[in-house]
Amino acid sequence: MSVTVGFDVYGTLIDTHGVVSKLQEIVGAKAKEFSQTWRGKQLEYSFRRGLMQNYENFAVCTSHALEYTCRYYKESLTKEEKQNLLDTYRTLPAFKDVKDGLARLKAANYRLFAFSNGSADAVETLLVAAGIRDFFLGVVSTDDLKSFKPNPAVYSHFLRKSGASGSGAWLISSNPFDVIGAISAGMRAAWVQRSKEAIFDPWGIEPTITVRDLGELNDQIVTATQKKT
Ligand code: 2OP
Repeated sequence: MSVTVGFDVYGTLIDTHGVVSKLQEIVGAKAKEFSQTWRGKQLEYSFRRGLMQNYENFAVCTSHALEYTCRYYKESLTKEEKQNLLDTYRTLPAFKDVKDGLARLKAANYRLFAFSNGSADAVETLLVAAGIRDFFLGVVSTDDLKSFKPNPAVYSHFLRKSGASGSGAWLISSNPFDVIGAISAGMRAAWVQRSKEAIFDPWGIEPTITVRDLGELNDQIVTATQKKT
């Protein structure tokens, strides 16, 4: 049976810092830092809502995180500016290596899925806008369970919905918390280390493989699979 591969979306396929050029128009030189704080808070809010079992969808986490970031940098954005940024967030670009990497895996007969904290609608919109929707057999969202990564239940949900078996299925993510979540739930996982500066969490739980971009995935998955069988 062909191998099932779930791709994290925000930060792995889609560049969340693609909003920086819009931010430059609004907050000037702080744009990059602003974008990093916004993204960090967005994830923190998802973790906290998951733990508190006080679910609101990922778009709400994104919007509340934007509000926090404006206050943190003492930037009073107008309603329209905030809406503009949130609209940009719905159609962010894919990283440069994504199209070719996915095409290579698809040609090698992998079963590709998008697997995200984002709602299915939001993810569909993003993938279509980035021109990569057709590579995927489907979109699996943690919204189905009203929870977020790295709750172990969402990885089991992915396996059920994609029709995969645990140890044969892979998660591909640039987010170390997601890689650790998937491995802890019995999957294999690739960490996409997009920059040399990116650090993996020192928890003693290592990625099955580490790649610099999606172009390296095919060969490394084949090698790792041969090693384990
Ligand atoms: C995603 O689920 C965690 O942002 C990441 O798409």
